[in-house]
Amino acid sequence: MSTKPHKEMTPREIVEQLDRYIVGQNEAKRAVAIAIRNRWRRRQLTGDLKDEIMPKNIIMIGPTGVGKTEIARRLSGLVKAPFLKIEASKFTEVGYVGRDVESMIRDLTEIGMNIVRAEHMEQVKIKAEKIAEEKLLDLLIPPTDGISEYTAPEPLLGTDEDGSESEFSTQVIGGHANTEAAERTARTREKMRVKLRNGELDEREVELSVESKSMPMVEIISSAGIEQMGVDFQNMFEKMLPSQTRHSRMTVAEAREVLIQQESEQLVDKDKIAKETIKRVENSGIIFLDELDKVAGRQRDGAGPDVSREGVQRDLLPIIEGSSVTTRYGIVRTDHILFIAAGAFNVAKPSDLIPELQGRFPIRVELDSLSGEDFSRILTEPKNALIKQYTALLETEGVKISFPEEAITEIARIAAEVNQTSQNIGARRLHTVLETLLEGISFDAPDTKKKTVKVDAKYVRDKLNAIVENEDLSKYIL
Ligand SMILES: Nc1ncnc2c1ncn2[C@@H]1O[C@H](COP(=O)(O)OP(=O)(O)OP(=O)(O)O)[C@@H](O)[C@H]1O
Ligand SMILES: [Mg+2]
Repeated sequence: MSTKPHKEMTPREIVEQLDRYIVGQNEAKRAVAIAIRNRWRRRQLTGDLKDEIMPKNIIMIGPTGVGKTEIARRLSGLVKAPFLKIEASKFTEVGYVGRDVESMIRDLTEIGMNIVRAEHMEQVKIKAEKIAEEKLLDLLIPPTDGISEYTAPEPLLGTDEDGSESEFSTQVIGGHANTEAAERTARTREKMRVKLRNGELDEREVELSVESKSMPMVEIISSAGIEQMGVDFQNMFEKMLPSQTRHSRMTVAEAREVLIQQESEQLVDKDKIAKETIKRVENSGIIFLDELDKVAGRQRDGAGPDVSREGVQRDLLPIIEGSSVTTRYGIVRTDHILFIAAGAFNVAKPSDLIPELQGRFPIRVELDSLSGEDFSRILTEPKNALIKQYTALLETEGVKISFPEEAITEIARIAAEVNQTSQNIGARRLHTVLETLLEGISFDAPDTKKKTVKVDAKYVRDKLNAIVENEDLSKYIL
C-alpha cells in the first residue's frame, strides 16, 4: 500500500487505493475521497473562512454486504488522520448513559495521540539510538575506574577476550596506570562498538532495568467515565503509583529495542505532543459511524431494555454539530471532525432520523447491490480476494489449486442465485459458498496424493447444485 501521507493523496489516488480492495461502488468511493481531500483543502486556508467551513458529512446507504464497512476499513488504513470506526447501535445497549457518546471523541484522541507520538518518536530516533548504543556499551563493559556505582552481578564478559582484558584493568591502581587503563578501556569500548554495530553481540545477555506501572486498575477507572469530571485522573494515578523497576535479563538485541524506546520517550516533549494531538484530532479527525440505521426511527412501543433510538440521536447531535469534549490531553472541539455514516436503511430511511441530524449529513451516496458479474470480480480481483486466500492456504499443504474462468463464473452465478432465492446478504454469500465448495478438498489436502486440483465448472455444479435447488437445504448451508 502506498505510504504517501493522505494530505498529499488526491481524490483520484484515494479511489485508486480503494479499488484495490473494493469492487465497484464508485459513487461511494468518490464521495469519501472528496470529503477527505476537503479536510486538507480547509487546512490550507487561513483566516475566518477556515472556521466557517464545516465538514460535509456523508451517509452511505446500501443493502447488507456490499462494501460499506469494507470501505471504512480500507480508508482507515489509508489516511494518516486519526480515524475511528464505531457502531452507532453500540449506544443503544443496556447500561448506556447519555454521555457515553463523548467516549468516541476520547477514543479518537487516543488514536490521534498514537499517530502524533509515533511521529515525534521518529524524529528523535537517531538521537535515541545513539544514547541506547552508549548504554548498551556500559552494560557490556564492566566499569574499570573503581568509582562507578555499577556492579555487575557477574562478569558480563566472562567468556570474551575483551572482557578478560577489562577485568584485569580494574586491578590497576595509580596515576600513570590509570590513564593507560583508561586508554585501554576506550579501545575496548570502540572494539565492542564495532562488534555491536555488526550485530555480533546480539545474542549475548545483559541485565536491564525496566520500569513498569500497574496500569489495569487505572484503565478500569477511566473507562467508567471519571474523565468527564475534567480532571486527568489517569495521569494522577500514574503519578501516584509507585513505578516498579524490574531487572530483567534479555539479549542485546532485545535490550537495544527497549533502550531506544526508553530514550525516545525521554527525548520527546509530552506537552507538545498533547497540543499537537488535539489540533490534529480537531482538524483531521474522522469518525466512521456504522449502522446508523439502527438508531433511526422512532421508538416502538414496549421497546424493552434498549435505550430509545431517538435518545441516542439526540446525544449524538451535539458532537456532530460541534461541542467540547474533555479528554486526557485537553479539550477537543468537535466542529470540524468529519463523520461518515453508513447503514443498510432497509427498514428505517434516512428521513426517519431526527431532522437536525439529517441536516448534518448533507451528502448521501447509495451503494449498488452486487450482481453475479461483481461477484466474479470480488472472487478474484481484490488484493485479498477469496480465491487468492484459498489458493495460498492450500499451497501450504503442497496442493496447487486452480480455478478456470468458467468455474469462477459458475460460483458467482450460484452465489447471486442463492442471494435471490433466500436472503440477499451480498458478498458475504461468497464466503459460505466457497467454504461449502472446497470443504472436501480442504479436508483431504494433507493426505492427498493428487497435488494439483483443478476446480472446474462441472465440479462446482456437482458440489453445489443439489444444495441450491433445495431451498430449505440452501438456507442452512449456503
Ligand atoms: N464491493 C465489494 N468488493 C469487494 N468485497 C466486498 C464488496 N462488498 C462486500 N465485500 C466483502 O463482503 C464482506 C461484507 O462486506 P461489508 O462488511 O462491507 O458489508 P456492509 O456493506 O457493511 O454490510 P452491513 O450493512 O451488513 O454492515 C466483506 O468481507 C467484504 O470484503
Ligand atoms: Mg457493515
